[in-house]
Amino acid sequence: MSTLFFYTKQQFFNFKSAQTASGFEFLSMSKLLSPQRIEGLDEYQQYYVDISSMVGFVKTNDSQLLNFEQLFVSFGENITFICDKVYETDIKYLFRYVFDNFSDIEAESDDTIDKNEEKSISQSKSVKKITDLDDLELEIFFENFDAKLYGHERFKEEFKELVNSFRVFNKLGEHKILSLFLMGDSGVGKTEVARSIHKALGSKAKLAKINFGNYSSHDALNSLIGSPLGYIGSDGGELLKRVNESDVGLILIDEFEKAENAVFNYFLDVLENGKIVNSQADEYDVNGYIIVFTSNITKENFKNKISPELRSRFDYKGIFNLLTDEDKIKFVHFRVNQIISKYTELVSDDIPEKLHDIIVSEIDVTQYNNMRDLNKKIKDTFVFYLKSRRKS
Ligand SMILES: Nc1ncnc2c1ncn2[C@@H]1O[C@H](COP(=O)(O)OP(=O)(O)OP(=O)(O)O)[C@@H](O)[C@H]1O
Ligand SMILES: [Mg+2]
Repeated sequence: MSTLFFYTKQQFFNFKSAQTASGFEFLSMSKLLSPQRIEGLDEYQQYYVDISSMVGFVKTNDSQLLNFEQLFVSFGENITFICDKVYETDIKYLFRYVFDNFSDIEAESDDTIDKNEEKSISQSKSVKKITDLDDLELEIFFENFDAKLYGHERFKEEFKELVNSFRVFNKLGEHKILSLFLMGDSGVGKTEVARSIHKALGSKAKLAKINFGNYSSHDALNSLIGSPLGYIGSDGGELLKRVNESDVGLILIDEFEKAENAVFNYFLDVLENGKIVNSQADEYDVNGYIIVFTSNITKENFKNKISPELRSRFDYKGIFNLLTDEDKIKFVHFRVNQIISKYTELVSDDIPEKLHDIIVSEIDVTQYNNMRDLNKKIKDTFVFYLKSRRKS
């Protein structure tokens, strides 16, 4: 009587978005487990009903098989059944009296892809991307970026060249995303690269940031792009949410090495296609974006952990070295100035004379490699001199 179509995990989201665009509705069988609910379906609407979730249930409760066989009789002509191909063997046997044909959705996939290309994908126009800047704006961008990030002169030079090449080849449709993979010790400015780009692009919104250190590794992909279809409480995932909230073409992926293989493969796709697709088949165009990946892994572990395919897709892979003492001193000057001017503006201008010079001379930068520790030392020293003044 009817045919069951199998899809693979790789095909599913493209298939769903194309079919949805041409008017189909997707439902999980779990939503339809009684004749009343089936009758509630709109007979003029075309549906794809996914029966993947039934496999485990029927396998462990074969007494239910009779009920299910009868249930299938109630479905009308407007329903097409689909199922994840991983269940193929089980399904073909369990439902041998329900379906008289089994096929793969592949036969339709050429068609599917075309329709998918036509479907316009969302991106809000107000997103400011590095590819949108004119020459003057680009110059100002680099000035701001260089001023915000201390040291790492070689990286800054290479970044400039990468951006210039990206702006050209992005226009030619050959380079969708500029990806930077930054490794190195803690507190030397890897994440700061993304913060500096974010500010230099003039963002007024939150930085679109994902930190894999916060995810438990086994469901990292679900947290990132939402749960697969048919799961209860499935949402669109954190990635799309963060990107939607942002007003600039930049994504920060922190502690990338803590993610799992499925996530690595997902990003392989993103870098290749310039699109973010979540489990609900919502698409977001990230063509022209910069993605900064940071990681604390060593060069050796980088090779063990990240596949050659993914490694070769990063436009920049580099180790961030410790800052020189000269750069650290610049950082101290900047931070002390910043703290003093904030304090005078917000609290009081009653501060010790020559406080800036006193603090700077007090701090031995050679003792600090992590700028977070150095920053803490600056704060402590500032508070110390404020207090000592009050006492005297
Ligand atoms: N090169 C730098 N230029 C300017 N500020 C820096 C630099 N390096 C570090 N900082 C300051 O130190 C803080 C920590 O730096 P950042 O967050 O970039 O560390 P990280 O390299 O990402 O380290 P982790 O691996 O621990 O995440 C930042 O908030 C920033 O204020
Ligand atoms: Mg960091």
